[in-house]
Amino acid sequence: MGTHLSRTVAEGRAFMQLVDGRQVDALSGERIDVLSPSDGKVFASIPAAGKADVDRAVQSAARAFNEGPWSRMPAVERGRCLTRLFQLVEKHGDELAALESRDTGKPIRQGKGDVTGAMRYYEFYGGACDKIHGDTIPFLDGYTALTLREPHGVVAGIIPWNYPLQILARVVGAALAMGNTLVVKPAEDASLTTIRIAELALEAGIPAGVFNVITGYGRDAGAALSAHPLIDYVTFTGSPLTGTAIQQAAATNNRGVTMELGGKSPQIVFADADIEAALPVLVNAIIQNGGQTCSAGSRVLIEKPVYERVAAALAERFSRLVAGPHDADLDLGPLINSRQKEKVAGMVAAAEEAGIPVLARGSIHPDAPASGYYQEPVLFGSVDPAATIAQEEIFGPVLSLFPFEGEEQAIKLANGTDFGLVAGVWTKDGGRQHRVAKRVRAGQVFVNGYGAGGGIELPFGGFKKSGHGREKGFEALYDMSATKTIVFNHG
Ligand code: NAI
Ligand code: MG
Repeated sequence: MGTHLSRTVAEGRAFMQLVDGRQVDALSGERIDVLSPSDGKVFASIPAAGKADVDRAVQSAARAFNEGPWSRMPAVERGRCLTRLFQLVEKHGDELAALESRDTGKPIRQGKGDVTGAMRYYEFYGGACDKIHGDTIPFLDGYTALTLREPHGVVAGIIPWNYPLQILARVVGAALAMGNTLVVKPAEDASLTTIRIAELALEAGIPAGVFNVITGYGRDAGAALSAHPLIDYVTFTGSPLTGTAIQQAAATNNRGVTMELGGKSPQIVFADADIEAALPVLVNAIIQNGGQTCSAGSRVLIEKPVYERVAAALAERFSRLVAGPHDADLDLGPLINSRQKEKVAGMVAAAEEAGIPVLARGSIHPDAPASGYYQEPVLFGSVDPAATIAQEEIFGPVLSLFPFEGEEQAIKLANGTDFGLVAGVWTKDGGRQHRVAKRVRAGQVFVNGYGAGGGIELPFGGFKKSGHGREKGFEALYDMSATKTIVFNHG
């Protein structure tokens, strides 16, 4: 794939929603401009769904669930549909990577990585479909008791703009594997690959109405979807504030939710660590996708004896990082939109004003269009753990360093935010690896490594304000289903 495709893909295309297997515009005919964050220019459009569009899509998913065949299809056949979708995503990989890259501004290499991740989800859940089963339970004499895993029914998936291909795939893979039907609303800033995947799903043999896509603003389409009485379960990835709104909406119908709400994830570097091995991982964990990653490693805690050395080495690497257009494939692309760019730049300026030392700054490529949403990487040193940049999710290429003394203080600092999504621990001491991994409050802990978003097989989700429920891996299949207990009295 050349850069050419990611510069021209979908030019001028008026995208449609996918409801009941058909391409449909918004009932109002209203549209939303689609722009490339690399230059801020409009290149396509998507429908702006309202309440009536949402209702049409939910009715379609409810019909598909109640009338079948999807929810009653043998699991192996559902699995084959997902496996065919995996193959189609692979076949259209170049186009999907170019589309994702142009729509979100991410470097084309990251777009390709996201296609690989998405493929793996469809492959994994295609294979997992017929490998999940219930129990038989020892009960009273004369009885046999057993459990089945049953689909919730109609699942609403509300998807953010940072990793649409991958986050969509983890929702679709697990929800469809268990026999649910779906209404998905991608983010208004990044809907294009979701529409393409739903088209490919039809081609893969997933019946009409099983996987519906509506596009539109969160406050209109998203709010109507999460409050719809025929939605049986809601899964959401995004900001804690929107998560609260969605949970309140789902609560009006007393329905369950999975919430993945970001983090302030720490990496802890002890003095005995292999620092050369850690350095590139520490940088990548915050620079990947411009820091717009729920599991970004946005805090690095460094034991005092090596603090100066690690800080200097990170500063040297940060000063060489360059942001530029997606098709230039540099260290990072632009941020998603002007609002995010202003938010991140504002947090950086406030931290500087508060006197937090800037250790290094990357740069913006001189050829990057001034109309794009570029933010250069910034490295802050000796950050006060109570500072705003130490506590709040920035969602940009901004890394904070914190010196610490000993294991106890490291754990206290690591756990000293409202979040608990991912953590990294760097040490050669085996006992300490286990102690720290157990005491850090995070849904995933990596020892001598860090996987920002990596590992589709690995259960993923938060403690505390990072959310609840688990996605990815086998565990997501439990979130996407409910246990039914059947008791036979046979005397
Ligand atoms: P957001 O959480 O508002 O948007 C995510 C999704 O929710 C989008 O599809 C949006 O249309 C939808 N949405 C928005 N309001 C809704 C509502 N009332 N009801 C139902 N759906 C709704 O995130 P936003 O405003 O784009 O970004 C703000 C901040 O959120 C970022 O700076 C970042 O800190 C955080 N964020 C975290 C993500 C993560 O992966 N954890 C992903 C995206 C944003
Ligand atoms: Mg876009």
